Formats: sequence, C-alpha cells, structure tokens
Amino acid sequence: MKTIIEPFKIKAVEKIRMTTLEERERILREAGYNLFLIPARDVLIDLLTDSGTAAMSSQQWAAMMDGDEAYAGSKSWFRFEETVRSIFGFNHVIPTHQGRAAERILFASTCRAGDVVPNNTHFDTTRANIEYRGAEALDLVIPEGKEASTIHPFKGNMDAHALREVIGKKGKSRIPLIMLTVTNNSGGGQPVSMQNIREISEIARSHGIPLYIDACRFAENAYLIKLREPGYASKPVRDIVREMFSYADGCTMSAKKDGLANIGGFLCTNDSRLAEQERDLLILTEGFPTYGGMAGRDLEAVAAGLEEVLDEDYLNYRIVSTQYLGNHIARGGVPIVQPPGGHAVYIDARAMLPQIPPLKYPGQSLSCELYRWAGIRSVEIGSVMFGRRDPATGAEIPAAMELVRLAIPRRVYTQSHIDYVVEAILEVHERRSSLRGYRIARQALFLRHFSARFEPL
Ligand code: F0G
Repeated sequence: MKTIIEPFKIKAVEKIRMTTLEERERILREAGYNLFLIPARDVLIDLLTDSGTAAMSSQQWAAMMDGDEAYAGSKSWFRFEETVRSIFGFNHVIPTHQGRAAERILFASTCRAGDVVPNNTHFDTTRANIEYRGAEALDLVIPEGKEASTIHPFKGNMDAHALREVIGKKGKSRIPLIMLTVTNNSGGGQPVSMQNIREISEIARSHGIPLYIDACRFAENAYLIKLREPGYASKPVRDIVREMFSYADGCTMSAKKDGLANIGGFLCTNDSRLAEQERDLLILTEGFPTYGGMAGRDLEAVAAGLEEVLDEDYLNYRIVSTQYLGNHIARGGVPIVQPPGGHAVYIDARAMLPQIPPLKYPGQSLSCELYRWAGIRSVEIGSVMFGRRDPATGAEIPAAMELVRLAIPRRVYTQSHIDYVVEAILEVHERRSSLRGYRIARQALFLRHFSARFEPL
C-alpha cells in the first residue's frame, strides 16, 4: 500500500473555530501583524511550534491518573528515572520543567565568562543561557547546513575541521563542553549522522572535553539515521538511540518535543560530582530532585511518551507526513529548505519573495499572508527573530536566512488538515509577486519577535 495512514484512532476531539477572511484581517490588524499576539482560538491550523503541542495517547492519560504526587521519592519519579536511564544510558537523571531549565542548570554549573561552547547550531534558549554566563555560543554546522536548497542527508552535522580549529585556537580549558543538537532545529530540523556524532565524540574525548547532546528530537534523528545512513536500516530505533548517546557524556532534553508530553524535561550526566552540584541548583528554582519542575502526573506522561516515541510505525508516519507537506509545496515551486526536516518544513521566504528586501521582512509578510488567507499560524525565522544591530552604527543587520517555519505538532493534525495547508501555500505562492513588506512600528530591546508590532507597507 502506498498510503501511510496515521497509526492511531481519535478518541477525544478538540473543536477548531472557523473564521472568515474579514475576521482574520481584523484580528491581524489588532495584533499588530504579530502572530504571537493572536489568540490560539482564532487560529485554524496552528503550526507555530511542535513544542508542548502533542496529542497524548490514552496510555499517557491513563498513566497520569496513576501519578504519585509525593514530594520525595514518588513512584512516578522511579518510573521516570528508570525509563530515561534505559533509553539514554546515563547514570544521573535530573528532572526539570522544560528544556531551558536543564540548559540553565548545565551552563550555570559548567560555564564561566570567556568560555566558548561549540554546537552544530544553538537553539535560541541554549545560546541565551550560554551568553547569560558571559560565554560565547559558537555555531559550527557544516557549510551545506547553511544553504537552503543544497540536498545532503545529514545537514545537521558539525564541521569537525572547524571544531578542531576552535579547540586549537581557544585551548581546551576555555571549552567546558561541546554540544550537538539533534535534530538541528535552527538549521532546518536537519539530522546529525551517527558517523558525525562518533567523530565529534572522538575529538572531544581526545581533548578531555565532555560532549552533550541537546536531545529534543532524538527519536526523529534516530529514525532518519535508520533511513539514510548505511548499516542502520535493520537496526531497531531503540538501539540506534542507545548508540547515539553512548558517545556523549550527558544530555539536555525538552520532553515537549519527542517526549510526546505538554511539559517536562531533564538533564543527564555521567559525572557524579557535577550531578551533585546540579541537584543543588535544581532545588533552588525547580524543586526537589525526585520531581524537579514537574508534577507526578507529568513524570508519568513523559515516561510513557518516551516509550511511545520509539514506536517505528509512529516514526515512519511522522517523518513521511512532514515530507508529504514539504514535497507537495516544493513540487508546486515553493522554495523550501531541502530536504524537509523531521518536525517542520521551512519555506525560504527570501527566494519566494525577491521583491521584499530582508529588512522589509519577507518571512513576516509570508507568515501574515498565510494567516490572513487560510488561518494558518507559522513562525518567521529570519530578520525579525535574528536581526541584529551594528554596535558601531546602530544600523540593522539582516539574518543569514529569511525562513518561515511550519512546525507540525505530533499526532494532532490529519492528512486533510495538511492537504489544506498545501493548498493554501500554493495559492499564496501563485500571487506571491503581490505580497508587500512590513515595517516595525514598535519593538522591545530583547527577543523583539514576541512582542513587536508591525505595519504593512
Ligand atoms: N533546544 C532545542 C533544539 C529546542 O528546539 C528547544 C525549544 C529548546 C532547546 C528549549 O526547550 O522550550 O522546553 O525550554 N524549541 C521550541 C521550538 C520552543 O518552537 O522550536 P524548552
């Protein structure tokens, strides 16, 4: 059979409130053309993020009823710890309320001012937590990872040569750890190969530098290794995951992604002294080490989710359905980051809307139009999000790419929802030359994309 069906049935449904074009034009105006400021009830298909938006299974809901809310040593904690240990293989598991809390604790325990942390590409919260320590977050993805249209099976790989150079230049004492983000979210959701993980690990170990994995989308990365890397086609995903993490000394995780949960995360390490320090910090802001920032029922939902996400029927459907969206719009002429990522499709708005210069925000223009036309919420990942000011002149510097991300929540939308998204994008693409840019009317000093207000030009 050619059709890959959703490998689940629907037991509970959530109403989508229909809106008209006129309503959406008013809603956009009132929100200052910033999709973050639109209430979710006014969105038809919400592709803002795949984080915390998954539909939980009946098994997860059942496990939640069994959540043990004891402050110390709850039954749910032991289930959680055992599950994380058995999948990832690390000695110490530190529960946190989400990924960035794990990052904050890790970098507070390891980074000092003047340090450098290399990664394939840091996610914004990772970068922010490193910079908050006065350290430098360095992106060392391979050159192919920065070219939207270049096809490469593992565009998330780190440039091993560049890493060796950085270690040579900075010295290992200024590099408290090296990170690999799987999949590389900020670089188009592209996977990292096992060979690259092994090679980066060898470099790290030969210099005595710990290697950490940002594990958010670990199962999607493992499945892409199975599909694309020689020697892995017949290996169970669980074994591939175990091998990936065997090359690392620890990991950070947001269970809001491949944990199939709506909240949760953890930090792992094999270093007992470091773990002790991290648990002390955990108690300050997250909670006692047997629950971190989570309720007992959250621990249950994550433990069940981590098992379910390794189901290969699920992963096959997941990867195929993301590709379905990417390939259908690409066939219609829409320029996307190739190949489609594991959790999202990224439209190259600079290539699609050449009439809009980067500082008139082509990604913003496209994402507003997708909402206006079809009620689809995407997110601009371009100069609105990553534009910087020249410290000398104050002039605005555009981002390297102008992308619009369509992130697919896990197990939430059906194929007909995705067909609707394809149709809407192709219709907007047909009349792309009529789209105009935007100017920023009001903005905050930091992370302006969350609150800025825009005016159409
Ligand atoms: N690392 C990566 C690669 C991420 O994609 C995210 C979150 C985090 C860390 C932080 O995790 O949100 O649980 O604190 N990414 C979301 C997104 C927000 O939309 O891509 P968190």
